[in-house]
Amino acid sequence: MDHFQYHDHVLYCEAVPVRLLAETYGTPLWVYSKKTLLHHVHVLQRAFASADPLICYSLKTNGNLSIARLMREAGTGFDVTSGGELYRALLAGGTGDRIVFAGVGKTDEEMRYGIEAGVLMFNVESEGELDALAAVAETLGKKVAIALRVNPDVDPHTHVKTTTGKRGTKFGLDWDRIRSIGQKLVGHPWISLQGLHMHLGSPIYTTEPYRQALDRAVPLIAQLRQMGHTIRYLNTGGGFGINYRKQEALPAEAFAEVILPAVRMTGCQLILEPGRFIVGNAGILVSRVLYTKDSGGRHFVIQDAAMTDLIRPTLYEAFHRIWPVEPSPDVPAPPEDYEAPIPNTQLCDVVGAVCESGDYLARDRYLPRLKRGDLLATFSAGAYGIAMSSNYNGRLRAAEVLVDGHHHRLIRRRDTYEDLVRQEIEI
Ligand code: LLP
Repeated sequence: MDHFQYHDHVLYCEAVPVRLLAETYGTPLWVYSKKTLLHHVHVLQRAFASADPLICYSLKTNGNLSIARLMREAGTGFDVTSGGELYRALLAGGTGDRIVFAGVGKTDEEMRYGIEAGVLMFNVESEGELDALAAVAETLGKKVAIALRVNPDVDPHTHVKTTTGKRGTKFGLDWDRIRSIGQKLVGHPWISLQGLHMHLGSPIYTTEPYRQALDRAVPLIAQLRQMGHTIRYLNTGGGFGINYRKQEALPAEAFAEVILPAVRMTGCQLILEPGRFIVGNAGILVSRVLYTKDSGGRHFVIQDAAMTDLIRPTLYEAFHRIWPVEPSPDVPAPPEDYEAPIPNTQLCDVVGAVCESGDYLARDRYLPRLKRGDLLATFSAGAYGIAMSSNYNGRLRAAEVLVDGHHHRLIRRRDTYEDLVRQEIEI
């Protein structure tokens, strides 16, 4: 469910025509719908209500301060993965007691920052990290709470580059190490083991990986408790898939059905770390067609967004729906199935200006005939869109706008040329 809808061949974000936003703020432009953002938080809160979960919005997905603040006001905490994200979370009004700190490569400095900010816990991913954290905690004279991130060795059936819960990836601790680490931590002066954490991968479209991982996590929690640890938290990470093509995603209730029994069995406080589920379908990328050209038997639509804005198609061959912002009335409505041939359309490659053949938002896509100046919307782009954008090729990071009913506000101004060189020191 989202609030990007066509009425009479005009795309609206909530009550605002997207063309108006493009004309006001320029392109390429990120447009977010506040209603959609909040809707998805509420959907999760409702689906998991019986466990009263701590929902820690995964800030890496889209860290814009206005979005982060909105999340906090909607009742979420934050999942952060670096000192930079912790800084952002605090700036957005987050408080340490609702922040969990993840990541395989935390530096001593980041650990110190996390401890000083009073984060709820660190999700620890290696024995080396545990030793380093203990040393930092000792220097600060503060005992720190942790969860052990287990690598559950389940296949989330998603892209290899976003698979994290499988043996052989860099993430988490192997099952067979958890018990001995648990033993080592009994009576530890600086570390208090309070939870088990996992994040299987992203995006996930079946409940089976969660079921498999939790089947093993529940007895493990019991074993850690037998050792004397007060295990209060079960953190199942993020990963819930969203609709990129049609209605392929599972409802939140389906995941709840698998996760809640484990929560009940363990009596733990549930922590969720959703990112994509909240912001993915709440954002679109609006771009303007610069040129079209036929070359080498292909039809290229060259528009002003690029892999530097949305790298997901380049990096993961990810699929994003693309359709004109104001399609002419003689083309069909946006299709149900974007990959099937559509009447009055032509097969296109939608590409950007970057000097790489891998710079595309879509390949082999049926689109209405387009001309210079036409606006395009790339849908479901709110998650890992601007968050993974870059200035490569001297390109300016785009502006971001948040729509709320009839109102729209700039929440990030477009880069300027001066921004591109601001940190450089000419010698
Ligand atoms: N928790 C941890 C520890 C994570 O590493 C992640 C995402 C999340 C939560 C949030 O996952 P979500 O609910 O958004 O699925 N750039 C890739 C996705 C990378 C995911 C990284 N970790 C993409 O564009 O598909």
